[in-house]
Amino acid sequence: MSFVPVEDLLKDAEAGGYAVGAFNCNNMEIVQAIVRAAEAENAPVIMQASQGAIKYAGIGFIVAMAREAAASVKVPVALHLDHGTGFEQIMWCIRAGFSSVMIDGSKMPLEENIAITRRVVECAYPLGISVEAELGRIGGTEDDISVSDREAMFTDPEEARYFVEKTGVGSLAVAIGTAHGRYKGEPRLDFDRLEKIRSLVKIPIVLHGSSGVPDEAIKEAIRLGVRKVNIDTNIREAFVDAARKVVGENPNEIDPRKVLGPARDAATEIIREKIRLFGSSGKA
Ligand code: G3H
Ligand code: 13P
Ligand code: ZN
Repeated sequence: MSFVPVEDLLKDAEAGGYAVGAFNCNNMEIVQAIVRAAEAENAPVIMQASQGAIKYAGIGFIVAMAREAAASVKVPVALHLDHGTGFEQIMWCIRAGFSSVMIDGSKMPLEENIAITRRVVECAYPLGISVEAELGRIGGTEDDISVSDREAMFTDPEEARYFVEKTGVGSLAVAIGTAHGRYKGEPRLDFDRLEKIRSLVKIPIVLHGSSGVPDEAIKEAIRLGVRKVNIDTNIREAFVDAARKVVGENPNEIDPRKVLGPARDAATEIIREKIRLFGSSGKA
C-alpha cells in the first residue's frame, strides 16, 4: 500500500475518539519495528522523519525504506516530515514521496509563522499532502528554563483560533506542558488550556514530546481532542537499552544482527504498547 495522508488517518481518529501514533525513525530496524508493531496491532500508523533523521540516513534511504515497509503490511501507513523548518526542504520531501509534512514556524513571530504555514498549505494541499503546524513553543527537556518561563511559551487558545483561520492548516501541534526528550520530573499538562484550544479550534490537535508522559495524562489528552501522539525518546531508550544489554552480556559479539535484532524487537514492543494506549489498536 502507498502512503496515506495523515489527515485521512486523523479524520477516522476524530470519529472514533482515539489517537494515531506517530513514531520517529532513523534507521532500517526502527522503520521495520514501526510497521511490524502496527501490523501486529492492526492499527493505522504514522512513520515520521526529522531533519536530523534525513541528514543521518539520507532522504532517498528514508523514503525507500518506508515504502518497502509500507508495502509489506496491510495497515495504512503515512510518511510525515517531523519539524520541517524550511520551505524548500518541505518541497524536497513532497517530491521524494512524503504524504504529510510539518512546518514548524513556532520560533518565528506569529505573522511570520502564519505566512510560512500558509505558503506550505497552498503548495501541499493541491498535491494531496497534509500539513501540520506548531503554535507555542514545545522545546526540549534539556532547555534550562523555569516552569513560569515554559508556561509563557504555551499555546494561547485565541491565538490558535486566529492561526488556524488564517492558515487553513490541517492539524496543530500545541504547547501545553510537554517537552522533547527525557523528563527530569513528571510533566504536568495544562488540560484546561487544551480544552479551551479544542473548543476554539476544529482541527485535530497534535501532542509532541509524549515519551515519559504518564499513561493517564495521555488518555486524558486524547479524551480532550489530541489525535496524533508523537513518540521518539521511548523508542530510542528501548532500542539502545536492548543493544547495550546484548553487548554487555556478550562483549565478544561482532555480528551487528545479533545486536540490532533484539533492539528492533524491543522497539516493536514499546510501539505496540503505545498503540494500545492511544486506542488505535484494531482501527486499521
Ligand atoms: O522532535 C524531535 C524528535 O525527537 C526528533 O529528534 O531531531 O534528534 O531527530 P532529532
Ligand atoms: P519525544 O522524543 O519526547 O517522544 O518527542 C517526540 C516528538 O515530539 C517528535 O516530534
Ligand atoms: Zn516534536
